[in-house]
Amino acid sequence: MSSVKLSQLVKKYGNLEVVKAIDLEVQPHEFVVLVGPSGCGKSTTLRMIAGLEEITGGSVSIEERVVNRVAPKDRDVAMVFQNYALYPHLNVAENIAFGLRIRKTPKAEVTTMVAEVAEILGLTDYLHRRPAELSGGQRQRVAMGRAIVRHPKVFLFDEPLSNLDAKLRSQMRAEIKRLHKRLEVTSIYVTHDQVEAMTLADRIVVMNDGIIEQVGTPMDLFLNPANTFVAGFIGSPPMNQLPARVGGTAEAPTAEIADQLLPLPPLPELAERIGAQVTVGIRPEHANVHKQGTNPIKVELELVETLGSEALLHTTLAEKPFIIKTETEGYYDMLHDVSSFTVNTDQVKVFDADTGRVFGQGAA
Ligand SMILES: Nc1ncnc2c1ncn2[C@@H]1O[C@H](COP(=O)(O)OP(=O)(O)O)[C@@H](O)[C@H]1O
Ligand SMILES: [Mg+2]
Repeated sequence: MSSVKLSQLVKKYGNLEVVKAIDLEVQPHEFVVLVGPSGCGKSTTLRMIAGLEEITGGSVSIEERVVNRVAPKDRDVAMVFQNYALYPHLNVAENIAFGLRIRKTPKAEVTTMVAEVAEILGLTDYLHRRPAELSGGQRQRVAMGRAIVRHPKVFLFDEPLSNLDAKLRSQMRAEIKRLHKRLEVTSIYVTHDQVEAMTLADRIVVMNDGIIEQVGTPMDLFLNPANTFVAGFIGSPPMNQLPARVGGTAEAPTAEIADQLLPLPPLPELAERIGAQVTVGIRPEHANVHKQGTNPIKVELELVETLGSEALLHTTLAEKPFIIKTETEGYYDMLHDVSSFTVNTDQVKVFDADTGRVFGQGAA
């Protein structure tokens, strides 16, 4: 049984199609993150699941029931937004209880439920404060309390942490993760931030321009991106991408990057493309500047950004930017002298230069 199922879901505004027949199944208890650049249709998709946006085509099912025509309040979902407008004149307890009160839940029950939720969220000592007397993180917790107290089948989050500063954001991220471990409510979480997606998700859905580019676990997407879009979106910094020409033979193909040769994995698609243009992908983490391997690739170092245990080396390769991520421990003095790197051939990705599709992977 799926918890939420989208089938050929379409949204049009006039002639503009902003969600283009997407299919997705979310399993019970799963934490799924929709990630993609601004304007790609994430919020629209979430709002169609919540019932806040009319569906142009296809269907939304919650626990096997098509809810296309079910009112938002009857879908048994709870949504947490970026702008979590709390009622300023109500205290924390009253804010959390608000939804229960309008549903005419008995008073004694409300008190118990609010106390329970406050305990889960660490708000017990703040129940009598007004929103103005709370920190940003506490206010965000109250907004989550309002959602949790209803015991919904599904939590929907739309960029709930975007208004918080970086430190608070990473704290709240961990809290949301702990909360999900404890409550195990199926959750769909929208963000444009790939770090949030990587750290929170059981599975990530990468969206782009109204379509789904790839669905997978965070490590799936990191190690096996289906195309150049996903390779360029997931990872920090994202995968380096270089135009190259395929040389060598079917058994031992190479990438010709300007006047340098990089061995490529012997993928069947490459055998048919000797002489053709491709895009070569190398993760910043996979470019090794410490180990003397065979076939070093020369780069020109422009800038070293030291982050502490790691450093980013901004280099150019065939006049294109190429970033190397490396540890600093024991190497720090050498980083300013880097002039080449080596890479394991099996960590080099090759993409079709026209379609951006990766070679050597079944259909994603
Ligand atoms: N009410 C609307 N009328 C017309 N276009 C809209 C409306 N709401 C959103 N859009 C457009 O739909 C696209 C997707 O929007 P949205 O789902 O909010 O993107 P995201 O949440 O991924 O940033 C955008 O191009 C946006 O401009
Ligand atoms: Mg949005």
